[in-house]
Amino acid sequence: MAKTDEKTEGNYKPKPLEKWEPFILGIFCNWCTYAGADQAGTSRMQRPANLRVMRVMCSGRVEPQWVMEALKQGADGVLISGCHIGDCHYVEGNFKTARRMPLLIKMLEQLGIHKDRVKFQFVSASEGAELTEIVDEFVADLKKIGPGPFNKKFKK
Ligand code: FES
Repeated sequence: MAKTDEKTEGNYKPKPLEKWEPFILGIFCNWCTYAGADQAGTSRMQRPANLRVMRVMCSGRVEPQWVMEALKQGADGVLISGCHIGDCHYVEGNFKTARRMPLLIKMLEQLGIHKDRVKFQFVSASEGAELTEIVDEFVADLKKIGPGPFNKKFKK
């Protein structure tokens, strides 16, 4: 007979909330924020382990559906970041994102998802320290509002 563990379907027990640490998906532009994260790493800056990074060529490439899917899959927060205005390698990608993200956040609020679960920031390749601060702040904000609505791993 196969051994079952707590993750076996139908036998799953959520972990207590005290063990919860926010899980953040970072969707970063290759040219600025991803390079900034790389710079932070090579400068040996401490970054919370809560962040997993997905690299895209431009923040303008970020589809709102990706953010919604990340939350649906259990992410507690999504951080989208790209080049500063005027620095986008594809001219206006970050303009589009800067317009799109507030609309997405409003729509998510209508669906009952806290507005602080999605964040959009401009971070350049030389701003590794700023990125570390942004992630720290985001983790602190998420700790205040608790696990995401679709995070089934933890008891609320
Ligand atoms: S290339 Fe970085 S936001 Fe467009």
